[in-house]
Amino acid sequence: MTEPRDDRFDHLFASTVRERLGREGYGSSASPNAEDAVPLTYGFPYPDSFPTAALEAATETVLEEEGADALQYGGGENVDRLRDGLLAREEARGIDATREQLLLTNGATHALDAVCSTFLDPGDEVLVEAPTFVWSLAVLDNRGAALTGVEIDENGLDPDALEATLEAREAADEPTPKLLYTIPEFQNPTGATLSRERRERVLELAEEYDFLIVADDAYGELRFSGESPPPLSALDDSGRVIRLGTVSKTIAPGVRTGWIVAHEALADQIGGMAAGGTNTFTQSVLGRYFDAGHYEPTLDDLLAGYERRRDAMLDSLERHLPPGSSWTEPAGGFFLWVTLPAGVDTEELLPLAAEEGVTYLPGERFFVEDGRGTRSARLSFSHCSPEDLEAGVAALARATETYLE
Ligand SMILES: Cc1ncc(COP(=O)(O)O)c(C=O)c1O
Repeated sequence: MTEPRDDRFDHLFASTVRERLGREGYGSSASPNAEDAVPLTYGFPYPDSFPTAALEAATETVLEEEGADALQYGGGENVDRLRDGLLAREEARGIDATREQLLLTNGATHALDAVCSTFLDPGDEVLVEAPTFVWSLAVLDNRGAALTGVEIDENGLDPDALEATLEAREAADEPTPKLLYTIPEFQNPTGATLSRERRERVLELAEEYDFLIVADDAYGELRFSGESPPPLSALDDSGRVIRLGTVSKTIAPGVRTGWIVAHEALADQIGGMAAGGTNTFTQSVLGRYFDAGHYEPTLDDLLAGYERRRDAMLDSLERHLPPGSSWTEPAGGFFLWVTLPAGVDTEELLPLAAEEGVTYLPGERFFVEDGRGTRSARLSFSHCSPEDLEAGVAALARATETYLE
């Protein structure tokens, strides 16, 4: 039996916290992890992927070279090396940004939070993909945003649905959304990538309806096959795209380092809202890491590791899942989106699945609206070994069959 929740302090919580107490949906803190179950739950990199030795060497060099400067507010010149390393990566993807347009943050989530505090008053309208990354929903919700979901399919956000939402709001005399939050590359949770043509239409709509696009590119460098369309920022000549990046998936999430690229007029203000300063010591270490040329070769190893895992999961789904199931086949990133046969509710299935030996995130948690995604789940292939992925998918299949009986 679970302990009843201690509610003595509830009246002291902010209203956004009070509203989500005990909620099952996207604000749910119910952890689906279970001991001994294969965790297909979170977007964690696989542990062997971390470049421990290179980070250790970079840390030593930073302390030897810079001593106290590396530990002071603002850091030393290795922080600039990181800026230059990141700007070079951005340039290779067609983004021509200056140092003034680049803001270092403590990860993409921190970046999103800084963007929210720069632009949003409580009640301001924000459009998000339906479904979208559950943690970003929480960040937006924390800032009191009024969220509306826009449909997404295998080619990413649907611009027709976006336009229909904008038109309907205009016709009803409702305020235009200030922000559209989108994950254009290997979207979390579906794995979808926004097509080039759609990128152009989304940019046109932003100009026409006067909103900003927050493009969260956590996975863009993790493409296993095929060609990536240019990032939204590379196609944007109106300054409406605020691009979020992170090294969480390409180096390690524990270093808590990400960045923002935005038009200077926006970057000036967002920089002031990244309150509390940023993690300049790890930025220095990463500056050395980039400068020593580790980033690209490590990326090649990562791609091979993730592709192997994606293939193992696709192969296991094909062999194990019952008829009536379907899933996406992403060409990169960490996740795929599975839809189980009619009659399955993935939130209800979860305890049974955990008993069989697998956990995942139920689909409903990725939607703003209740009652959507109930047959679906996000499966992460990033964290487990190919053997464990196989065991996890087999357990999901057993649990589904038992549930349907
Ligand atoms: C789309 C997306 N944005 C941001 C993050 C988190 O990034 P960070 O660790 O840099 O905060 C994730 C990872 O889970 C993600 O999937």
